[in-house]
Parts: sequence; C-alpha cells; structure tokens
Amino acid sequence: MTHSTNDRRNFLKGAASASVMTAASYENILGANDRVRVGCIGIGLIGKRHLLDFLSQPDCEVTGISELYEPRLTEGIETAAEKQKTKPEGFKDFRRMLDSKNIDAVVVSTPDHWHALMTILACAAGKDVYVEKPLTLFIDEGRWMIEAEKRYKRVVQVGTQQRSGKQYTECVDLIRNQHIGEMRSARLTSFRNISPGFTKPVGTQPMSETDWQMWLGPAPYTKFDANRCIYHFRWFWDYSGGQTTNLMAHNIDIVQWATGAKPKSVAAMGGRYSLTGLGETPDVIEAIIEFPGFLTTWSCREMSAGQPGAGSTSFFGTKGMLRIERSGMEVIPDMMIPAENLIPSFTAPRTVTQNPQPRTQAIKREGFEQVRDQFVPHVRNFLDSIKSRQPTVSNLQTSQQTNITTHLVNIAQKLKRTINWDAERETIIGDKEAARLMSKEYRAPWDKELKAALSKTS
Ligand SMILES: NC(=O)c1ccc[n+]([C@@H]2O[C@H](COP(=O)([O-])OP(=O)(O)OC[C@H]3O[C@@H](n4cnc5c(N)ncnc54)[C@H](O)[C@@H]3O)[C@@H](O)[C@H]2O)c1
Repeated sequence: MTHSTNDRRNFLKGAASASVMTAASYENILGANDRVRVGCIGIGLIGKRHLLDFLSQPDCEVTGISELYEPRLTEGIETAAEKQKTKPEGFKDFRRMLDSKNIDAVVVSTPDHWHALMTILACAAGKDVYVEKPLTLFIDEGRWMIEAEKRYKRVVQVGTQQRSGKQYTECVDLIRNQHIGEMRSARLTSFRNISPGFTKPVGTQPMSETDWQMWLGPAPYTKFDANRCIYHFRWFWDYSGGQTTNLMAHNIDIVQWATGAKPKSVAAMGGRYSLTGLGETPDVIEAIIEFPGFLTTWSCREMSAGQPGAGSTSFFGTKGMLRIERSGMEVIPDMMIPAENLIPSFTAPRTVTQNPQPRTQAIKREGFEQVRDQFVPHVRNFLDSIKSRQPTVSNLQTSQQTNITTHLVNIAQKLKRTINWDAERETIIGDKEAARLMSKEYRAPWDKELKAALSKTS
C-alpha cells in the first residue's frame, strides 16, 4: 500500500514527536542469523543500485520503499517483490516509514540536502542508517548527525564505498608504512567534457505540489522545476555542493583515511566559465589544501576531458607515487639518481646514472569492479555492524572530517580567499563571514523536526 502525503502530520500536533519515537521502543538486538528489515528512501540513480545490493544479501529483507517520484516508487516496490518473496510497503512520506516497527534500518539515497536530517530522524526513530555521500550540505549538519547517532546508539554507514575496496585498504597500508616514502603531496582529479552542459530534465513526469514540498524538505521554497529535481539537483547550491562535495568527497576520504590528517588551510578558485546548460555550481575548480606536512590539490573540469583516465587519486612520496581508482592501483617507483646528476647541463653532456635502481617496489593491481568489489562489501559491512553494534568502515566521525574539507573548499571558492581551519576546535579562524557559511537555516517545519530530534532524550 502507498501512503498518501495528504495524511502528513501537522508538526505542532505531534509530527515530530510521532516520528521521533523512543529508540528503546525499537531496540532490537539482532543475532548473527537474524534478518535485517530494510527501508530504502530514494530509488534513483544510486538508490536502485543499493536496493539491488541489499536484496542480494541472504539476511536482508526490504520491507519499505519511500520515493516521491511515482515511476520510481512503483519500480522499487516491483523490483523488491520480484527478488524476494514479500512485497515492501510503499511510502511517500518517509516519516511514516520511520514509524513502522517492520523496519530495522534505512538506506538514504536522496539528494544531499536531505542526508543529515533523514539520518537524524531515523536515528531518533531507532533505525540504523546507510546514508549516501556527501554527508551533508553544510558543516554543522555533520555535528548534529554525530550527536544523534551517539544519543540514540545507532550504527551509521556512509556511502564512501571505496572504504570497502581491497585495493583501497592496501593503498592505506602502503601509505602508512611509507612504501612510497614520506608522502608530501596528493593530487585528486575529476575531468570530463559535458559541454555545453545539461539542457533537459531527467525525470519527465511532474511532481504534485505536496510531493515537491517533500522533495524540497529543509531547502528554500521554489516553484516545481524538473531541471532542479531528478539527478540535476547536484548543480544547485540549495541542494548540493557541486562536484567538490559530490566527487572530491570520495578522493579526499582516501587521503584523510590513509594519513589521519585534518586540514590546516584551504585556497580555491573556480567558476562557471563555460557551461551554459542548467545549474549554478562551478565547471572548473582548482583547490589547494594544506595538511600538516603535505599538500593536496583538487582539480575538476567539466568542459574538457584531457588525457584518458585522468580522474583518480595520486599520492607522491620520496620513493615514488601511488595512483588509485575504482578499477585498480599502481605504485610507480622513483629511481635512485644522485641529486647532482639531475642538474641540467646545457653546454656539456649530462652525467647519466647507469642502471638506476628503484627507490621502492613497483606494484600493480587491476580488475576491480565497483559493484562487486566495493558496493556489495560495503552493504555487507553495514549489515554485519547492525548485528555486532561495532562501528562501520565509513563511520560518521571519519566521514565528517572529510566532509569538512570539501565544504572548506567550497567556502574558499565562494569567498575567493584562503580559509584557515582550527581542527581541534573545528572552527574557521578569524573570518566571521566564512564561519557563517558553516551553517544554514532549515525551512519550517523541518527546523522544528530537527530541534525535536536533537533535544529529545532517548
Ligand atoms: N556513492 C556513489 O558512488 C554515488 C553515486 C551516485 C550518487 N550518489 C549520491 O546519492 C544521492 C542521490 O543521487 P542520485 O543520482 O541517485 O539522485 P536521483 O535524483 O537520481 O535520486 C534521488 C531520488 O530521491 C528521491 N527523493 C528526493 N527527496 C525524497 C524524499 N523526501 N522522500 C523520498 N524520496 C525522495 C527523488 O525522487 C529521486 O528519485 C546523492 O547525494 C549523490 O551524491 C552517490
């Protein structure tokens, strides 16, 4: 059955208190052989993939689907019904699904502006959460999520699936063990050519005003616009942080995972120089992030693809480089050449080093497949953590640290100045205007829903 949004509760008549059930009332300690009953929120580009991956697990039953776009709601319910013996219940209002006692955990695959609030409300309702990256729309949301996770004793997995990839865990070990020597520089890139930009909506059916209001949720009100909705939300600041929070979130997560480092200062420039299609966020970004003892650069281009395979994460150390992407990893050693032999010579033959030896061992790993080797193990890790109550591989604490770095890049780019970060106090140093960009107001009644969830005692 599909619940109509017409019966949405009025917040003042107890909407928040109904969705914010006591965690204890749903506290199910699941055993190793127990089934985890999952509710999926958002059956879009990635949400459908997650639905299939959860359905592939023998100890998982999808008991709820929440989706506002009608064709996808139907598709989600039918896909689950086909692959398991039972048909999940459909919901337009995800809060109704959070009220259900037939759900242990939810998967949040909505646009970014919903990630934090849905996670917080789900935690308050006693559900464990798998939430897609980027973690948040602004820095403060990450703190609220951590607060809710702790208060309601929930398990949260963030959708940075590389953390479940074997080549990524090997990469982290190699960096930590100084296989490439002292790592002093990392380069994160994402290049493609989508000129002149997107020109038409992805979802072709209009949404009712009620559904659109729910799609907007805490974001500022604007009239329904299909160009801002399905898939294309990621090019608008009200719903997303553009490609920096969308894509850099993955790459910088590996750097901060490997090093445990937190940013000190961030400089960034960018703009929408070329694309004329729909959207607001930059089509070219160049950022430099200073960490203690090393620099990281983030380069993103949407209007020129450049060399094939130019989208990756590379680490540079005193013994060589390590380059990694979803399909594989490679260590390319530097050669032992005395510094003197590298002095250029313009008037006499250069001193050539005979048979230079590599400074470290070359490594090549290939053949990894995103769904099989990263997405499915990430789902598995979440289900196992639900049962063990142990932290997930992509937990909120570490994800908030990488989330902060991406938002600092956007703040630096918007204000066109270097942002200095106090990692201990988690605040921007000496720049009130920049510090204001760490937070945003939620649109009513979601501001009250948030407050109720965070102020409630479990
Ligand atoms: N980890 C990855 O590799 C990866 C890949 C793609 C997308 N993502 C992330 O996943 C998220 C979704 O991206 P997408 O491309 O799938 O977007 P999408 O627009 O295709 O899908 C989002 C779906 O959420 C639904 N939705 C929105 N608000 C809702 C609400 N209040 N209740 C129920 N349903 C609601 C929409 O109707 C839509 O169908 C984004 O944050 C994106 O960054 C991650």
